[in-house]
Amino acid sequence: MADPLRLGIAGLGTVGAGVVGIVQRHTELLTARTGRTVTITAVSARSRGKDRGVDLSAYAWEDDPVALAMRDDVDVFVELMGGDSGPALDATKAALAAGKDVVTANKAMLAHHGQDLAEMAEAAGRTIRFEAAVAGGIPVIKALTESLAANEITRVMGVMNGTCNYILTRMENAGLPYDEVFAEADALGYLEADPTLDVGGIDAGHKLALLAAIAFGTKPDFDGMRIEGIERISIDDIRRAADMGYRIKLLGVAQRTKDGIEQRMQPCLVPAISPLGQLEGGTNMVVIEGDAVEQIVLRGPGAGMGPTASAVMGDVCDLARGIRIPTFGQPAALLEDATPSRSAQPASYYLRLMLDDRPGTLAQVATILGQNGLSIHRMRQYDHKEQVAPVLIVTHAATPDALDAAMRALETTDVVLVPPVALRIEAE
Ligand code: NAP
Ligand code: HSE
Repeated sequence: MADPLRLGIAGLGTVGAGVVGIVQRHTELLTARTGRTVTITAVSARSRGKDRGVDLSAYAWEDDPVALAMRDDVDVFVELMGGDSGPALDATKAALAAGKDVVTANKAMLAHHGQDLAEMAEAAGRTIRFEAAVAGGIPVIKALTESLAANEITRVMGVMNGTCNYILTRMENAGLPYDEVFAEADALGYLEADPTLDVGGIDAGHKLALLAAIAFGTKPDFDGMRIEGIERISIDDIRRAADMGYRIKLLGVAQRTKDGIEQRMQPCLVPAISPLGQLEGGTNMVVIEGDAVEQIVLRGPGAGMGPTASAVMGDVCDLARGIRIPTFGQPAALLEDATPSRSAQPASYYLRLMLDDRPGTLAQVATILGQNGLSIHRMRQYDHKEQVAPVLIVTHAATPDALDAAMRALETTDVVLVPPVALRIEAE
């Protein structure tokens, strides 16, 4: 039998402890499936004394993850600390420089430094695997890099942040306001240490940037993405969307346009009866479209100890089998710059306007929409509070540029009392 594959694991939190648990629980199964024994030789975390629910007594301890990454008795450095720079980046670079493969769940680090790290890995004849970084337990990286490798990918879209989907579906199902459900998600431990990464759409944006790089053969381009979070979605938006047969989702879309690569992460309305519309709680869903395969839909747990550790160990098994695919599916030198672009494809939009309730207000709004080429398809005015009239409008299909121009014009009038909310209605 081949030599054991020796792991050094930095980070023993939710994911790290899950990985240790799988290695300990499934020793024989891993050997049978990979033809090698998978062992852990050394671990690292901030606090040595913490009870992590797994027995670490057989492993060497390193206070410094960089020292762990460089150990001679480590073949694969497993980075599960998190953070787009700092110890995670330092230790990953040290591991590659020392000739180790890297497995990580760290989407933030790869979205910002993926290209440099991929180049480093290739120079060292190594790779970085990151299945766990996108959509938790769903094998979406493997699907794109391997199973769909013969397709020209036309679009990747989906719900990639479980926390936001939990918040939006819980608001709808329990009829609770955003602030209350946000506090609930915090108490349940769902939120990232910096919650704006979740609710601001940034975490999901990191994931979409990685998928787009593989799908379109481009360098990860997080900075070229249009990102909007869910903080401004009210329970009223959710109810009104439901009245019209839609649900609101934080939806990521990446597609090639004639000018470049469009990447957007924003709350959208999707048909309530569609697969995306029916997605509940922390579940993720990724839809991939390719010229040969047409469309596939992957659905599953987007986070949590078991699902995320499962994805990390899938990568470890590939390395144990000797499978070493370039980090983003093709040599880093072949990845093109991703020219950010914006689809001119028209869509209908949902608009929420809080209007000054006096004669002529609606006429003014209709004029601004009309002047910018937006036609009203449906409109409702809901319960007034004092002088404020909430008005909801669904437009006919309009281009994103026309929508932006109309929104800018609406914001400058004195009849729109709070910044308007516009949500794209995404046809699946
Ligand atoms: P976590 O529970 O907060 O654990 C982080 C671990 O890293 C802890 O063990 C911590 O040590 C250790 N650590 C932090 N800074 C360190 C440093 N400077 N030196 C050594 N160790 C350090 O995080 P997690 O939820 O497991 O997430 C880990 C990674 O997986 C992140 O990149 C995250 O985005 C990604 N991810 C997580 C999930 C999920 O469901 N949780 C899903 C997909 C991807 P102490 O325990 O001693 O504090
Ligand atoms: N905060 C992330 C989420 C964790 O809610 O989906 C998994 O990446």
